[in-house]
Amino acid sequence: MNNSDPSKEPGCTIVIFGASGDLTARKLIPAFYHLCKDKLMPPEFRIIGFARREKTDDSWRQELRAALDQFSRTKPVDEKIWTAFAKNIFYCQGDLTDAAAYQKLEQLLTSFGSGPLRENLLFYLATQPSQFGEVIEQVHRAGLLNKNGSGWQRLVVEKPFGHDLASARALNAELTRFAHEQQVCRIDHYLGKETVQNILMFRFSNSIFEKLWNRNSVDHVQITVGEKIGVGDRGGYYEEAGALRDMVQNHMLQVLALCAMEPPVSLEAEAIRDEKVKLLKSIRPLTPDNVAKQIVRGQYFAGSVDGQPRPGYRQEPKVKPDSNVETYVALKLFIDNWRWSGVPFYLRTGKNLPMSASDVRVQFRPTPSVLFATHCGNKLDANAITLRLQPNEGIYLRFNGKVPGMSLGVRPVRMNFSYDAEFGAYTPEAYERLLLEAIHGDATLFIRRDEVETAWQIVDSIRAGWDGKSLTNREFYAAGTWGPIAADDLLAQSGHVWHEPQVFS
Ligand SMILES: NC(=O)c1ccc[n+]([C@@H]2O[C@H](COP(=O)([O-])OP(=O)(O)OC[C@H]3O[C@@H](n4cnc5c(N)ncnc54)[C@H](OP(=O)(O)O)[C@@H]3O)[C@@H](O)[C@H]2O)c1
Repeated sequence: MNNSDPSKEPGCTIVIFGASGDLTARKLIPAFYHLCKDKLMPPEFRIIGFARREKTDDSWRQELRAALDQFSRTKPVDEKIWTAFAKNIFYCQGDLTDAAAYQKLEQLLTSFGSGPLRENLLFYLATQPSQFGEVIEQVHRAGLLNKNGSGWQRLVVEKPFGHDLASARALNAELTRFAHEQQVCRIDHYLGKETVQNILMFRFSNSIFEKLWNRNSVDHVQITVGEKIGVGDRGGYYEEAGALRDMVQNHMLQVLALCAMEPPVSLEAEAIRDEKVKLLKSIRPLTPDNVAKQIVRGQYFAGSVDGQPRPGYRQEPKVKPDSNVETYVALKLFIDNWRWSGVPFYLRTGKNLPMSASDVRVQFRPTPSVLFATHCGNKLDANAITLRLQPNEGIYLRFNGKVPGMSLGVRPVRMNFSYDAEFGAYTPEAYERLLLEAIHGDATLFIRRDEVETAWQIVDSIRAGWDGKSLTNREFYAAGTWGPIAADDLLAQSGHVWHEPQVFS
């Protein structure tokens, strides 16, 4: 990851296509504002918004200023910083399909001079993926995007990266028609989170943990990404996606890869990405037989979360009344390599769960139950390390301690590390880091083409196993519970149980 001095960075222009949309006002502009506030932007930069709606530079700045009041992570907004920042923001009205609009964009860029503001260009595609191909071709035709031109040009795109392997391949082919793979930054905002990045630091900078990180010591691993919200008004999108595509293909397989990959030969982006791909490729293939044994889906029916009633998925707007789409999925994966042979990795994610929380729990093998058997029986807890990704970011270690007193009582105790307590509440938004890395051209936090395609291979094989099969009774769960009974059955086969994410303040 980049540690360069921002004041020495050459200037650049960021062009946001689809700039009148939600993403720009809610995430992108607040992130750039904070990068400015933290003096992390290059000394010279411009931001150009491109969309169809009629706006002037001034009217767009005013809209963004109002949105910042709502979405800024620091409040109140610093007027002095905003005023200096806003001078760099411009609006270019046009249709993505209209070549003349790109000429207008080219003229605006040229008005910034012939130096880095014209040549170093970050194109952020905040549009529908179906529009990417058109935009890329048009910026290339307008002479703004080249494989081997002067300066640098990069494309930033957000998930979803296709909806299956075939569409991901087609999208990747479009993205790299006029740009090298190294010019493409695929964003999974999950990877911009401090705690997700810390997985690698934690594993590879601490010998006491790294020594234990293998099949000799680890019994199994649980990765949970729980969401308290239901599908709400995103029923139309969700009917096409489902939990497997929405969460597992990207966030969860990325977290798994970071937790289980081999040490990279360096901290260079390609070295880390090579190891992630190797890890994904060592996941045991999911034949239809294995899918039946190792993968559970679920769908919520009406229930309540925090005492508030929630409708069932099939009653949500834009959802088919007999929909079989999964709002929950649990996976038992095996990584067939030397380090992890035989260790189950359980992944689960779902909507309308009791808690919005993500963590990774590494459970160690139990001690031989000879010494304490008469006092504790089989109840002696196995040791575990939990990496809390959110909320209450931190790490905690669970081990056994003697209960004070005359008896030989033993019970689990914990050591807790909290980011906030240790470092103060420094919580940059994931987008801040990701945008900065895109400007610097550091690809570590972006997903490479083969990572996307390997993850889709896994997801496609699961979908093939589900094909034509309806949800069974054991796959429904009440909103506000931790998922279907079938998910408990999945772990019970190996004598395991799910652990709820721990929340500490
Ligand atoms: N919102 C989020 O938090 C979020 C998070 C992750 C990923 N994403 C992804 O990011 C992308 C953008 O999301 P969004 O929520 O900002 O979408 P949005 O609110 O629907 O905005 C889409 C933008 O595209 C512009 N647009 C559409 N057709 C156009 C055309 N022919 N010519 C010029 N501009 C056109 C629209 O502006 P005009 O109507 O003014 O042209 C609008 O500003 C989507 O692919 C989404 O899946 C969004």
